[in-house]
Amino acid sequence: MTFTHRLIASLLTLSAALAAHAQAQAQQAQAQAQSAGAVPVKAAACAACHGPEGKSTQPAVPILAGQTSRYLYLELRDFQEGRRKNDLMTPMVAGMSRDEMRELSDYFAKQKPPPQTFAADAAKAKLGKAKADETLCVMCHMTGFSGQNEIPRVAGQHYEYIVKQLADFKARTRTNDAGNMTSVASTLSAQDIENLAHYLVGL
Ligand code: HEC
Ligand code: HEC
Repeated sequence: MTFTHRLIASLLTLSAALAAHAQAQAQQAQAQAQSAGAVPVKAAACAACHGPEGKSTQPAVPILAGQTSRYLYLELRDFQEGRRKNDLMTPMVAGMSRDEMRELSDYFAKQKPPPQTFAADAAKAKLGKAKADETLCVMCHMTGFSGQNEIPRVAGQHYEYIVKQLADFKARTRTNDAGNMTSVASTLSAQDIENLAHYLVGL
């Protein structure tokens, strides 16, 4: 080998070593970022419907930001095992591991719920509050419908989504609730459901 050849060869070795070093550093940074609660890889796919950081602006797609981690995890598991069904959501959990579900749930639970822009009807919201008091919803959902553990936060959720869920529980097309919500919803009229949603959206 000539001197030039040797020089090129050693430069190539050096650049390969530098590339390997940079890759190792990137991997280390990624591991650190993940342990610090950074964005899970799969969250990018969720944003298409649930918005960035789970702050959905689509009325039929629930806000995930600020929801309890335990509830989010249980819903993902229920969708995967077919206990809860939805044509848009069910395919999203196919092949998802339990660890990925936990990681996504923790991530969305840590985000701040976005402010609601829905213009609730004050008179209907007042009737909704009276119905909620009468039905003792907050015995489970906690004061202000803030939720805890496996009981979801409903405060500030989308109007259309709330109406659909209560109607689904009433019609028993959503039954993954161990009977709690199907029995509550069976006592609600369509008007009650509308009033409750006007109340809950504004909390
Ligand atoms: C194609 C649109 C779409 C995508 C993409 C999507 N979702 Fe959903 N998701 C929905 C819809 C619609 C619902 C509400 C289903 C219903 O009405 O019961 C939902 C419901 C949920 C719920 C239940 C929330 C609640 O309050 O009960 C969770 C949890 C959830 N999605 C998590 C995710 C995660 C995590 C991802 C990314 C891996 C994701 N979704 C991707 C459309 C989508
Ligand atoms: C006995 C306890 C209990 C009572 C009382 C109760 N809930 Fe629930 N609620 C639950 C549980 C548990 C779930 C979650 C079910 C599941 O795992 O999917 C739920 C789910 C919901 C959801 C769906 C949230 C989502 O993100 O999909 C809405 C909306 C709701 N409740 C509203 C109400 C209202 C309004 C009342 C009173 C009229 C009420 N609940 C009373 C336990 C209760």
